[in-house]
Amino acid sequence: MSKKFVEDFKVAENIALNSSNFLIKLVSPKKLPDIKPGQFVNIEVKNSDEIFLRRPFSIFEIDYQKNTLSLIIKILGRGSKKLTELKAGDTVNLVYPLGKSFTIPQSDDRILLIGGGSGVAPMLFLAKESGLNRENVDILLGARSREDHVDASEYSKYGNLHFTTEDGSFGEKGFVIHHSVFQQINSYSKVYTCGPDAMMRAVAKTAKDEDIFCEVSLENLMACGFGVCLCCIEPTQKGNLCVCTEGPVFNIKELKW
Ligand SMILES: Cc1cc2nc3c(=O)[nH]c(=O)nc-3n(C[C@H](O)[C@H](O)[C@H](O)COP(=O)(O)OP(=O)(O)OC[C@H]3O[C@@H](n4cnc5c(N)ncnc54)[C@H](O)[C@@H]3O)c2cc1C
Ligand code: FES
Repeated sequence: MSKKFVEDFKVAENIALNSSNFLIKLVSPKKLPDIKPGQFVNIEVKNSDEIFLRRPFSIFEIDYQKNTLSLIIKILGRGSKKLTELKAGDTVNLVYPLGKSFTIPQSDDRILLIGGGSGVAPMLFLAKESGLNRENVDILLGARSREDHVDASEYSKYGNLHFTTEDGSFGEKGFVIHHSVFQQINSYSKVYTCGPDAMMRAVAKTAKDEDIFCEVSLENLMACGFGVCLCCIEPTQKGNLCVCTEGPVFNIKELKW
C-alpha cells in the first residue's frame, strides 16, 4: 500500500466546466508522490457548521512539474456544492493518494473506457496514462444531455472520443451500452468503467457474458477513506471489503454483480 499524506493544498484555479461540473486545480507545497488513475483524495469541506466528514473525489490530472493535482467536482449535495465555491488562494486539506488504481494496459491491449457523470475524471486520467497509441483507445462518455457533458476534446490525443446523450442532443442517442462502439465490445481486450451504479452494472454484465477483462471503479458512500469506519463495504467473492482500501477499482469477477 502506498504511503498516505494529510496535507494542505492551495487552490490554484476553479473553473466552471458547465452548470454542475467544476475543475479544481490544487497546488501542493511539496513534491507530489506517484499517483495512478483510479486513486482518489478525501477532501475536507471547510467553512461549514454542518459538514464534518471529508468527501472522496477521483484524481483527474497530475502535473509533477508544477505539483498540481486536479479534480472534477460535480454538484450532488451540500458538500460538493461547497467545494465548488472554493476560490484561488483558499487552502484545503487532503488525505491522499487513497485506494487502488486501475490495471495499466499492456502495449498490445485495445481498450474501451466508459465514463458517466462523476466517473469521467478517472477515465480521462487513465486514457492519458495508458501509454497506448490513440487508435487503440476508445473513450465513451455518457450524459443526460449536451449541457451535462464536460469538454473532453483535449483528450482526443489519447483516444477516440464517443458520446451518448439520453435525449439525443449530442453524440448517439441512448445509454452508453446502446452506442455503436459498445456493440463492438468483443474487439477490446480490456474495458474500464466509472459512473452511475446502473451504468457500471450494465457494462459489467455484457463484459462478463462476453468474458472480457473489465474493471469498475465503485463510488460507494465513504467517510474515513482509509478502512476504519466500514461504511463503504461492498460484498465480494472474498467477503465484505472496504471500497476505500481494497478498491475503489475492482475486477468484475471479484464482485457479486
Ligand atoms: C472513490 C470515489 C471517487 C469519486 N470521484 C468523484 C469525482 O471524481 N467527481 C465527483 O463529482 N464525484 C465523485 N465521487 C462522488 C462524490 O464523493 C460525492 O458526489 C460527494 O461525496 C457527495 O457529497 P455531497 O456532500 O455533495 O452530497 P451529500 O449531501 O452527502 O449527499 C447528497 C445525496 O447524494 C447521495 N450520495 C452521496 N455520495 C454519493 C455517492 N458516492 N454515490 C451515490 N450517491 C451519493 C446521498 O446519499 C444523498 O442522497 C466519488 C466518490 C467515490 C467514493
Ligand atoms: S470509508 Fe471508512 S472504511 Fe471505507
